[in-house]
Amino acid sequence: MCGIVGYIGKKESLPILIDGLKRLEYRGYDSAGIAIQNGAIQNYKSVGKIDQLEKKIKGIDLFGNLGIAHTRWATHGAPSEENAHPHCDCEGKIWIVHNGIIENYQKIKEELQIEGHVFASETDSEVVAHLIEKFYKGNLLEAVRLTLGEIIGAYSLVVFHKDEPGKMVAAKKGSPLVLGLADDGIIVASDVTAIIRQTRNVIYLEDGEIAFFENENFKILNFNNEEKEKETQKIEWSLEELEKKGYSHFMLKEIFEQPNCIIDSLRGRLIPSEGKAKLGGLDDDVKNLSEIDNLAMVSCGTAHYASLIGEYMLEEYADIPSKASVASEFRYRKQLLNKNTAVLALSQSGETADTLAAIVEANDKNIFTLGIVNTVGSSIARATKAGVYNHIGPEIAVASTKAFTSQVTILTLLTLFLGRMKNMSLATGERIIKELNKLPSQIEKILKNEDEIKRIAQKYYKVSNFAFLGRKYNYPVALEGALKLKEVSYIHAEGFESGEIKHGPLALIDENFPSFFIIPQDSVYEKNLSNVQEIKARGGKVIAIATEGDEEIEKIVDDVIYIPKTLEMLTPILSVIPLQLFAYYVACLNGRDVDKPRNLAKSVTVE
Ligand code: F6R
Repeated sequence: MCGIVGYIGKKESLPILIDGLKRLEYRGYDSAGIAIQNGAIQNYKSVGKIDQLEKKIKGIDLFGNLGIAHTRWATHGAPSEENAHPHCDCEGKIWIVHNGIIENYQKIKEELQIEGHVFASETDSEVVAHLIEKFYKGNLLEAVRLTLGEIIGAYSLVVFHKDEPGKMVAAKKGSPLVLGLADDGIIVASDVTAIIRQTRNVIYLEDGEIAFFENENFKILNFNNEEKEKETQKIEWSLEELEKKGYSHFMLKEIFEQPNCIIDSLRGRLIPSEGKAKLGGLDDDVKNLSEIDNLAMVSCGTAHYASLIGEYMLEEYADIPSKASVASEFRYRKQLLNKNTAVLALSQSGETADTLAAIVEANDKNIFTLGIVNTVGSSIARATKAGVYNHIGPEIAVASTKAFTSQVTILTLLTLFLGRMKNMSLATGERIIKELNKLPSQIEKILKNEDEIKRIAQKYYKVSNFAFLGRKYNYPVALEGALKLKEVSYIHAEGFESGEIKHGPLALIDENFPSFFIIPQDSVYEKNLSNVQEIKARGGKVIAIATEGDEEIEKIVDDVIYIPKTLEMLTPILSVIPLQLFAYYVACLNGRDVDKPRNLAKSVTVE
């Protein structure tokens, strides 16, 4: 995720900015840049690690006690020097760093271009510098305030102007920003990790606040220019605790990030009044997409399980015959693809070798290729003809969690997008959008039940084998639950279609072989209930993931974790959360290296 550092004060800004950028490295990034004010502006950017930026500025006399710096994790436009921050206006006077997404940037950019502004990057962020330029009448603070009135989306910003030395402005809405109050100056950053080497006294900006700095002094205002009193806090955490935001592992942090990830994946992509999804990355290919009569999905591991959920959605709601294949199998099997087939790759890293190879092969056969990818500018993102980004920031834990729920969210958007071009009614589209918007608070509710899930983990963590069972939309969740448990806890676990157990797996069941049963109140509830009884009749223990208010299930099973009611197609986004937490706690109780399980790599770049 992008990172911001700014400094204004008595010291040289460069070492503070570079140190701050290094502290933000753990968040993931693909390029970095710096701009320092000392009468003239010195600006340097580079693709890759901070070391590259350091190499670039080595030997250059870079001085000045006001500067801004940024690590970028690409969202709009590939990782490149042009797209790296800081960005500036046409005259190179106004310099900005931005985190977040400007949803209406396209419209603003077009208007500014008509007015004669020339853009140097493909980013959404650059419009901020040009808007400030448009509004600037000798007062930077006022120009920033007017700009904030125009932009829609989430942002944290830091800005300075060549003609206003010793002044800097920062603003926040929906993306974090914190001020560090050192003896000799102020550090402003997107994350306290970038600050604590200089000071532990901080002020957190809230949404709708602007900080105005003049040398070592500052004031905090709301967007109406009214000054606000703010409390200074003392940071007691260690650097490592801060990187994990106080969570004991990245996996837990990423599980808890999911409500925000859903918001970020949906941001600016829904048109509620038309019951439609707006997917910028597919806009140029609407004609191709409207002609598609079958979809082949390729991916691996967790991404493959998300694509299996996509199969059900796309067939039920968009009337598109869909087949999800593991990428390493897809390649070695005869593919009956035609000119109306699209091949869709799903990948968090965008670098998985088998998925990439499947896309390259489809491209060679002139089949239209699409991607649902988290890492902008990655190999799969570049190889596919069109696509949708997840926008959930880097996933650091090896075990994928937030990527899964985001992939299912984007598949729902794709289903809406394609479905509304075909037979999906306005009412159905509206209903899906309404339920999608409820998901973040529903996930929060499940996460609040963490202690109960921890209690269940304590009860079962010594067990050697587990079954995970589900039907229809929740069969892939059973597979994902089993994968999560085995990869982080090293406990044997298998996922089954619940209807299949009587065809063999039931032989495994006894009092030492418990089953997780994903049994929401959906169209297959009664069928699932019979399967639960089959297990109970053989002395098997059952932990159910059930819909809130289902009191019947409590009487039958051993433990229940409740999830809120949603549309059947969206249940996987909720039902997977307790399974992620269960796997996490079982792994911890067994003393496993949760974020880096043995024998596994985050990005599998070998076939
Ligand atoms: C499981 C896991 C892996 C990945 C798989 C695909 O927790 O992380 O199964 O899902 O290696 O990776 P991406 O999505 O990067 O292509």
